[in-house]
Amino acid sequence: MASKLVPRLSRCIAQASRQSMRSQCRALSTTPRVASEALQVHRDSPENNPSIPFQFNATNQKLIVEILKRYPPQYKKAAVMPLLDLGQRQHGFTSISVMNEVARILEMPPMRVYEVATFYTMYNRDPVGRFHVQACTTTPCQLGGCGSDKIMAAIEGHLRIHPGQTTEDGLFTFSEVECLGACVNAPMVQINDDYYEDLTPESTITLLKALQAAAEDTGAAGGTAGLADHSDAGMGNTKGEARGQSGQSGNVEGQAARGYQTKGVKLPSPGPMSGRKTCEPLAGLTTLKEEPWGNEKLRTDGAL
Ligand code: FES
Repeated sequence: MASKLVPRLSRCIAQASRQSMRSQCRALSTTPRVASEALQVHRDSPENNPSIPFQFNATNQKLIVEILKRYPPQYKKAAVMPLLDLGQRQHGFTSISVMNEVARILEMPPMRVYEVATFYTMYNRDPVGRFHVQACTTTPCQLGGCGSDKIMAAIEGHLRIHPGQTTEDGLFTFSEVECLGACVNAPMVQINDDYYEDLTPESTITLLKALQAAAEDTGAAGGTAGLADHSDAGMGNTKGEARGQSGQSGNVEGQAARGYQTKGVKLPSPGPMSGRKTCEPLAGLTTLKEEPWGNEKLRTDGAL
């Protein structure tokens, strides 16, 4: 009996040891760890800590009442995103005090508000410059036009900062972002609320220079747009300003000619920098050129 058991036992031991060795040698497939430029946890700092008071101003309080009317009272926490957006516009960034105030108004645990604010990248949880330049580097922008690599290099070269950094004068913050939904006009950047599309390195630098000039001419200091006077050169705050004359010269100067006018300074108009009106073919209409059947008629003024 023992003569049968011993070989069997040794075979079992050898098999078990082979299996354990195999499992230790198993090939692990890993991808390199990419460190995000944004810290996903809150750290108290002099400009962002819970002891800094924050309250919505009278205008925003009225807006909050209107926003809350869209939701049944028992689901008012669904208004967390528009309220965070309002807070960011007023304060300049989504500080912990802004998040706590939103949680108080919506009667929800602060952690639930933190979860939303840390998930969505449009909430800036640190102060940003007056112009927040967000360059898209997702595949269509990488491949479209001259490619976003050249746009990134142009911005870095002109502002002398890297993604995640702010210029010393507090005028520009530069971020690299994922698709902003304007792929057909690639490559593009978002500056505050506005999209600038069909960019080239030259038009990007001209755009940045125009923003710098506008900030200088209006005396708009660097720093977060929300903390500064919105009537100055802050982009995204000029939508109510009078628009300049429409011009279609197909370059940045042409864009500037139909840009927003504020305090005598013309800011480049958002949209395609190539002369396109929206996303129509650059070489003009390629299809649907004949008169349609039936009662429909093409416009006779040549416009699309
Ligand atoms: S990939 Fe850049 S806007 Fe979509």
